[in-house]
Amino acid sequence: MEMHSGSRPRRLRRTPAMRALVRETHLNANQLVAPLFIVPGTNVRIPVTSMPGVENLSIDQAIQQITSWWEVGLRSVLLFGVPDEKDAVGSTGTDPDGLIPQAIRAIKARFPALIVMADLCLCEYTDHGHCGVLSDSGEVLNDPTLAILARGAVSYAAAGADVIAPSDMMDGRVAAIRHALDHAGFSDIPILSYAVKYASAFYGPFRDAAGSTPQFGDRRGYQMDPPNVREALKEAMLDLDEGADMLMVKPALPYLDVLHQVKAACDVPVAAYCVSGEYAMFKAAAQNGWLDERRAVMEALIGIRRAGADFIITYHAADAARWLAEDAR
Ligand code: PBG
Repeated sequence: MEMHSGSRPRRLRRTPAMRALVRETHLNANQLVAPLFIVPGTNVRIPVTSMPGVENLSIDQAIQQITSWWEVGLRSVLLFGVPDEKDAVGSTGTDPDGLIPQAIRAIKARFPALIVMADLCLCEYTDHGHCGVLSDSGEVLNDPTLAILARGAVSYAAAGADVIAPSDMMDGRVAAIRHALDHAGFSDIPILSYAVKYASAFYGPFRDAAGSTPQFGDRRGYQMDPPNVREALKEAMLDLDEGADMLMVKPALPYLDVLHQVKAACDVPVAAYCVSGEYAMFKAAAQNGWLDERRAVMEALIGIRRAGADFIITYHAADAARWLAEDAR
C-alpha cells in the first residue's frame, strides 16, 4: 500500500509567526474594560489592601490614571462610586450632581472618546450594604428598588455616560431602566445588563474597596446559585426581552461554561467580568513567586475570550494592554 504524507500531522506551531498565522482567538486592548472606584475629595488615592495595584481615586486622580491607561490603548472604564455618606435608601446614588455624575462629566470632558460605563447599584450607597431597599423586617424589596435604579440611570445618562450597567439583580430592572431612559430622551444609551451574576465568594475584595459588604444576611436571595446554568440562560433571555443591549456573565473563570452557553444562545455582545477575587488570587500567587503573573493572566484572558466573551472587564486591563503592546513590538 502506498504511504501518502497527507495523513501525517504537521505541527503548525514551530515559530512565533506560524503560531500567529493560525491563531483562532485574539485579544486586543480595546476589548478590555478597567473598573475604577471613585471617592470624594481631591488628591485622594487609597490603596485597596486585598487588591494590590488597585486604588480608590478622587476624580482628579482618576483622570491622571486614565491618562496613562489611554496611552497603553485602553478605551473603556467602568465606574463605581464609593461615597462618604450612606443611608437606608442609597440617596447619594441617584443625585444628579452626585459623585458618579461629577466623575462622568469630568472624565468625558477630558476624554470624549473614552467609553464610560456606569455601574448602577444601591449597595455602595446603602448603610446596610444590600443592593435594594429593605422592608421593616429586613427583606430586600424588589419593586420599590426599581424606581430608584431608574432615577440613577437617568442621572448617569444626563451626565454623559455611554453605557448604563445595572448590577443589582432586581427582577424587572432592565425594563424599568429602559423605560426611564427612553422617557428622559436617552433612547440611544445602551444597557449592559449584569444578567448572569452569581452569588460568589469572589466579590470579597470588591466589597472591601466599595465598603459594600452586607451588614446582615447575604445576596443569595437576588444573585444566582452557582450550580445553575439553565437559570443563567433564562435570566439572559429575560433581560434581552426587557431591552438589554449587551449581557454580562460574572465572575468569569469559574463560569466559562456558562459564558459559552450564553454567547451561543444570544445575538448581542456578551461581556465577562473577571472579578476582584479572581484578581486577588493572581496577585497573591504572583507576590509569592508561585505564578508568572503575566503568562497566567494572559492565558486566563484568552481563555475567557475563547469561551465567548466579546469583551472583558478586568482589574488587569492596564497591565494586559501594556503586555499586548510589548508583544506587538
Ligand atoms: C455591586 C457589584 C459587585 C460587584 C460589581 N458590582 C459586588 C456584589 O455584588 O457584591 C463585584 C465586582 C468584583 O468583585 O470585582 N452589586
